[in-house]
Parts: sequence; structure tokens; C-alpha cells
Amino acid sequence: MSVVKASNVYKVFGKRQNEVVKRLEEGADRDDLTKLGTAAVIDASFEVEAGEIFVVMGLSGSGKSTLIRTLNGLWSPTAGSVEVLGTDIASIDAAALRKVRTDHVSMVFQHFALLPHRTVRDNAAYAMEIRGTAKVERDQAADRWLKAVGLDGWGDKYPEQLSGGMQQRVGLARALAAETDILLMDEAFSALDPLIRREMQEQLVELQGELKKTIIFITHDLNEAMFLGDRIAVMRNGRIVQVGTPEEILTDPANDYVAQFVHDVDRARVLTASNVMEKARQVVTNQNGPRVALRSMRESNASAVYVTDRHRKFLGVVSDRDCIDHLRGGAKTLDEIIKPAATSASPDDLLIELFLPSSESPLPVPVTDDEDQLVGVVPRATLLAALGNQTSNDQTSDDDQSAGSTAVEWTAPVDTGIIDQVLAETGDASEAETASSRGDL
Ligand SMILES: Nc1ncnc2c1ncn2[C@@H]1O[C@H](COP(=O)(O)OP(=O)(O)OP(=O)(O)O)[C@@H](O)[C@H]1O
Ligand SMILES: [Mg+2]
Repeated sequence: MSVVKASNVYKVFGKRQNEVVKRLEEGADRDDLTKLGTAAVIDASFEVEAGEIFVVMGLSGSGKSTLIRTLNGLWSPTAGSVEVLGTDIASIDAAALRKVRTDHVSMVFQHFALLPHRTVRDNAAYAMEIRGTAKVERDQAADRWLKAVGLDGWGDKYPEQLSGGMQQRVGLARALAAETDILLMDEAFSALDPLIRREMQEQLVELQGELKKTIIFITHDLNEAMFLGDRIAVMRNGRIVQVGTPEEILTDPANDYVAQFVHDVDRARVLTASNVMEKARQVVTNQNGPRVALRSMRESNASAVYVTDRHRKFLGVVSDRDCIDHLRGGAKTLDEIIKPAATSASPDDLLIELFLPSSESPLPVPVTDDEDQLVGVVPRATLLAALGNQTSNDQTSDDDQSAGSTAVEWTAPVDTGIIDQVLAETGDASEAETASSRGDL
């Protein structure tokens, strides 16, 4: 069951609301109906699942605040229905609606809305006080939530003694202390400085990892929407024009409006390793010997290759110099010279997190799953393409060598002439190796 379900919700302000709905249903343009009323929300339908962060995004005046207010019954829809945990909130009386709000829905506002004459602790404890929780108990709970949002020890201060960012944390603590399953956040971070805002976004994601609330978050900031949202609803002129995951919105915008909107998004903070990774090419298995590894390096003009076992379990990396020394010493297997990779990514890592690892290794960043299997690689060119806001497919990735320092000493690739010479010097029945030398995954 969805936690919040909006079905064909309309909210019209003005004198002739029902007529406006009727005309809109018949296909009229809302701009032609302004004499009759303002259609703030038009035919909005969506469902929000438990534990989801559902972001509503759109320009100023697109109807976001009006929509969110229909979700906690501050406005009743002109037409359509809103269900919260299965209850149609327009059909219940005021007392029942109050109960839904105190028990299930709390709200965080853009301008904190703290009570100035109450201490920070008493502000955080407000919902519990309304609910009749005993003082000792609610003070303890308030302190616990203040600590959770990074305000340990600030309980005795008054709001005016806190910075804007800290006041917003109190607002968040107050909403969390209400212990409702649903959290509505209307531009909750929009009044904050960019760095503090970023910090709050990260903190919310971290808290959500433990709390698993159902959060409906409104913003007009696309990067914020992309960072926070499990799914995003894009609003325009009162209508929801697309609902999708950040990746879907970014890579498959429903129309020109959405495409225009997402044009400037910071892709590196939205796309994950699994969205852009490619087949690993610079890889051999540990069944292959140093000769195969060297050949693979020669082909790709790299100074190292990745090694997996035959079940694709990621083992590490071997360098050309180690292979050469090893081969000259008469060794046949790679096992003794496999070094740990400088870095690896998991499929869910954001591209932004891969820039540093990428700069530390001449090879593409290896991507491994929970079972340590090598599932792909992210070449540096792909990362740079994301920075430049191109799609990753615009770039190829073979020219991905450069020096850095890792567990193996990264150097320019050994000259292919030397590799040929070593292969010839140590040559024996090597064709069997060659047959499986590509090791493509
Ligand atoms: N109480 C009201 N009475 C009349 N019109 C209203 C009322 N509240 C909102 N509106 C109108 O409804 C439309 C949508 O407003 P809303 O506040 O929902 O937009 P928003 O997307 O939240 O914008 P912002 O990003 O500026 O907060 C606007 O045209 C606004 O003027
Ligand atoms: Mg608003």
C-alpha cells in the first residue's frame, strides 16, 4: 500500500472553483480561466511508497506548496482525493484530521517557524507536548533528536541565539521528534547558505538511512532534487509533467520543458557508477600467466591490468614491470605479483565520489558488487564527460593512461619493444595463453 496517494487532485482558488475544474477537464487552458479562478494544482496523481524520498520540483508558482498542503489537509482538494495511509483525508471530520496530522504527518518549513520564547529543547519537544507526553520523557527525546541533527548541548538556548542553519536543524529535530511516519518538507533548505544547505542534504540522507521515513520534499533546485530524490515529480503550471527516478528524468526527459530544466544539472552528483560503467577490457584472469597479462597491456598501451579469478572475483592489479621481472625469473602464474587495487567503487557510488580514485590510478576505476565481482569499470573520460555535462556515450575511453601513485608504482608503460623482447626471450608454448588472453567481462 502506498503511504500517500493523490488521485486527480485539483486545487483552484477563487470564486468559481468547480467551474474551473470542469472547464479544465474539458480541455481548457488554465490561462484562459483566470477570471473564474486560479488553478494552482491540476489533475495531479501519484503514489508515494513507504521509506521513499519523493521530491516535488518546479519553478516558483508551479503549485508545489499548494500540492503539499493538500497532502496534510491544510487545503482540501477542489476535486480528486488524497489518501494518507489508506484514509481519504477530505472525507473525515476535523478531529480525525487532527489525529492523522499529530500521529502521522509532520512538516518542516522554509522559514523554520520556531517559537521565539521557547528554548531550543522546548521547540524540539513541541509535538510531544501537544500529544501530552510527560515533560521528563519529552525533554529526553528532544535532546536525543537535537543530538541526531548535530545540536548536542544547545537545548537551553533560544532560537535567536542560533544561526539560520542551526535554526533549521531545530525545525528538523522538531519534525523528527514528532515521530510521525511521514515528513513533509517545503523548501526546507532553501533559505540556507549553499555549504550549509549541502551539509543538511547530506545529513538528511544519512538520517533517512536509519529512519526510513516517508519524505515528501519540495524544492525548486534541481541539483537538490536529484541528490535527495528516490523519485522526482516535475511540476509546471499546476500540472505534474513527469514522475521518475533522477536517472530517468535526466536521461529520458518526458518533454522539452523537462529537458530544458535538467540541462544544467550536475550529472556527477546524480549518475552512479552503474549508470555509466563499461565492460572491463584491461583485465586477465589469474589462470592466465604473466605473458598474457603483458600482451594485454601491450594491446591497450597500459602499464597494468586488472586480475580476476575465473568466477570474475576481483583480485587486484599487476604491473608491466612486475610481469617482466617475474617472467624473466621463470614464473608462470600471476598470483605472487597481484597487488591490491588502489581503489574500487561500488555500483551505487556517485560519479562525484570517483574523481579522486580515478586520479590516483592509470586504469579505469573498477566497479565491484557485494560479492566482490568485477562488474565493470568507469574510465576517466566518462567522468570528465559527466563534468562537462555530456552523456557518457559521447566519449570513448581507451586513452586513459596517466601516472599517479598506488599500491603498485604507476609509471609510463614499458616500451612495447621491450615487452616483445621479453616475450621472445621467455617464449615457449604460449599460444594457449593467447587464446584466452582477452579476458573480457
Ligand atoms: N491562498 C491562495 N489564494 C489564491 N491563489 C493562491 C493561493 N495560494 C497559492 N495561490 C496561487 O497558486 C499558484 C501556485 O502557488 P504555490 O504557492 O503552490 O506555488 P509554488 O510552486 O509553491 O511556488 P514557490 O516556489 O514560489 O513557493 C500561484 O499562482 C499562486 O499565486
Ligand atoms: Mg512554495
